[in-house]
Amino acid sequence: MNKNIFKIKSKKDKSKIVCLTAYSKNIASIIDKHCDIILVGDSLGSVLYNFSSTKKVSLDMMIEHSKSVRMGVKKSLMVVDMPHNTYRNPKEALKNAKKIISKTKCDAVKLEGGKKIYKMIQILVKNKIQVMGHLGVLPQSATNFKFKGRKLNERKKILEDSKLLEKAGVFSIVLECIESSLAKEVTKLLNIPSIGIGASVNCDGQVLVTDDLLGLNKISARFVKKYSNVEQQINNATLRFKKDVIKKKFPTKKHSY
Ligand code: KIV
Repeated sequence: MNKNIFKIKSKKDKSKIVCLTAYSKNIASIIDKHCDIILVGDSLGSVLYNFSSTKKVSLDMMIEHSKSVRMGVKKSLMVVDMPHNTYRNPKEALKNAKKIISKTKCDAVKLEGGKKIYKMIQILVKNKIQVMGHLGVLPQSATNFKFKGRKLNERKKILEDSKLLEKAGVFSIVLECIESSLAKEVTKLLNIPSIGIGASVNCDGQVLVTDDLLGLNKISARFVKKYSNVEQQINNATLRFKKDVIKKKFPTKKHSY
């Protein structure tokens, strides 16, 4: 087993798992020091390309961004999202997962869904591909982004699916936007770690979209905490550059040949 996967699994019930997204080398190399897992999320479709949903993200887009991220990740486990319509049956899932791994040298792939994708996960695991699951709100198939777990049938389904994913062999499961007590139940039920986004402190780890926590992405979801305002910093830096250029203060002799 990949030593990072072993480390992540052994953190369950001991210490929290830190996961963030990256879409490029420069961000990946900064956050790598502080993360256990770096996810090349298909959220890049909405964050970088203004797509209305992640359904439009292609395999090639995921591969190109992941190749860039790979150059910045030295110690964290690197996970790549398999985009929409790339794992509709076991054969397709295996072909595309192998392609992602061979082209990007990532450590694992992430797939969204429960019972419906059981066979796809099984075949990947049988072929020694590490898989991360994803339950709760599933952006690749969601018709709305309301949190899950208020209704009894939703709770039952997520609990059943999480056990199924574990049986299929995933090494951890992302729980997106689910009610706090359900996150607690799922986490207790599983022997593998749960990684929450909008799923309370009751999970074994947390993931956020890095652009959201940096204040680079204009999003106002309840589960996002802005830890910085990089937008303001970029604004200030470019404004200073503009002023220097106009006043002929840049470049000086120091910056010239
Ligand atoms: O695509 C993504 O960034 C994700 C995280 C939000 C978990 O799946």
